[in-house]
Amino acid sequence: MSQSSLLALHGGPKAVTATRPPHHRWGAAELARLTAMVDQPSLFYWKGPQTDALLAEFRRTYPLQWCMPCSSGTAALHIAVAALQFPPGSEIITSPVTDMGSVIGILYQQLVPVFADIDPHTYNLDPAAIRRAITPKTKAIMVVHLAGNPSDMTAILALAREHHLAVIEDCAQSWGAAHRGRAVGLFGDLACYSFNEFKHVSCGDGGIVGTNDQRFGPTLAKWGDKHYDRVAGGRNPEALSPNYRLSEPQAAVAAAQLTKLDAIVAAHIRLGSRLLSHLRALALPGVALPAIDPRDTHSFWFCLLRLDPAAFRCPRDEFVAALQAEGVAAQAGYIPKPVYGYPLFQNHNFFGGGWPLRDAGLTTMDYRTVRCPAAEALLATGISLPISPALTDEIVDQTAAAIAKVARHFAA
Ligand SMILES: Cc1ncc(COP(=O)(O)O)c(C=O)c1O
Repeated sequence: MSQSSLLALHGGPKAVTATRPPHHRWGAAELARLTAMVDQPSLFYWKGPQTDALLAEFRRTYPLQWCMPCSSGTAALHIAVAALQFPPGSEIITSPVTDMGSVIGILYQQLVPVFADIDPHTYNLDPAAIRRAITPKTKAIMVVHLAGNPSDMTAILALAREHHLAVIEDCAQSWGAAHRGRAVGLFGDLACYSFNEFKHVSCGDGGIVGTNDQRFGPTLAKWGDKHYDRVAGGRNPEALSPNYRLSEPQAAVAAAQLTKLDAIVAAHIRLGSRLLSHLRALALPGVALPAIDPRDTHSFWFCLLRLDPAAFRCPRDEFVAALQAEGVAAQAGYIPKPVYGYPLFQNHNFFGGGWPLRDAGLTTMDYRTVRCPAAEALLATGISLPISPALTDEIVDQTAAAIAKVARHFAA
């Protein structure tokens, strides 16, 4: 074995030697907006100039007539679900490979998340699995564009039309992604985005929900603002809504970030595509790359690979430890298990230690019996590689070399 092929885990040289140059996510644009904000008499969102700026910037990419900036992606999704006003016990089909934020609002609205399996190659909801999950109680599909890879909205919209289902798009991970040339979020009835710390664009924490549908649009703000009617004025709520407002300081940062959205997304796409094209050229046996429809734009929030366990002499976690030792910021899987596998779901511990919806006979769902084999396999065999404008071409090139080094070392 040559010295350079000796794993760093075993005392060899690291494959990734390039250092990250300093990268500042916040700068002059954020400072200018925050400075303007300090001069304002009010930091309240309603009619706030920073909120207006945020909406104008957002609509450059996402021309949605009604939007509610809010405190998180979770809040955006909760507002979207609430605005649909489904009766308790109604079912919303979604992916088991997602953040808790996708399902929290469904549960709070006394609805039932139904987990359909993913496509093993795109890692997004499999339209055939959605079809199998539809029951007379199904009212909506919540699509999650995982890692920035657009879901098959053409197939999903056809299914939704056939069964008269609403479609919510969870675009938290997919800023800048496009299906057939059209931005994700513009396909479904309601679109939700996150500005949390880790997303393409961030204000620390924040989110936005939008729609072009006049049935829900005018109510979005109320569903995120205690159901107060800021247009007519006065407090006379006719429904139960949390306070999910985004304040002006956060809107200022989010607005500034959105002025850079195109450049940030372009960097993610360039670096993610570069990594994938190296890995495609290397054609490492047992390393599966994400499937991306050539007509779509994957905006590479991160890059998720899969290992074929039969192709390697080590468990996935040892492979990841070897990559980390080589200097790659790899992580095992994405979430530790499918969402339905969390103790919360396994124990149906939603409200006061139980699930009043089930006690009332409004659902028979038992999450202990749910199985989504493709989702389980992905999370057991996946490796995530973060992609960000903080990376350089050299780091990406060395990352691909590190993956090849580790894969060849452990090849069965
Ligand atoms: C797919 C997805 N949906 C929803 C959320 C929730 O967003 P937030 O953290 O802003 O509440 C996240 C955040 O990680 C996410 O990745």
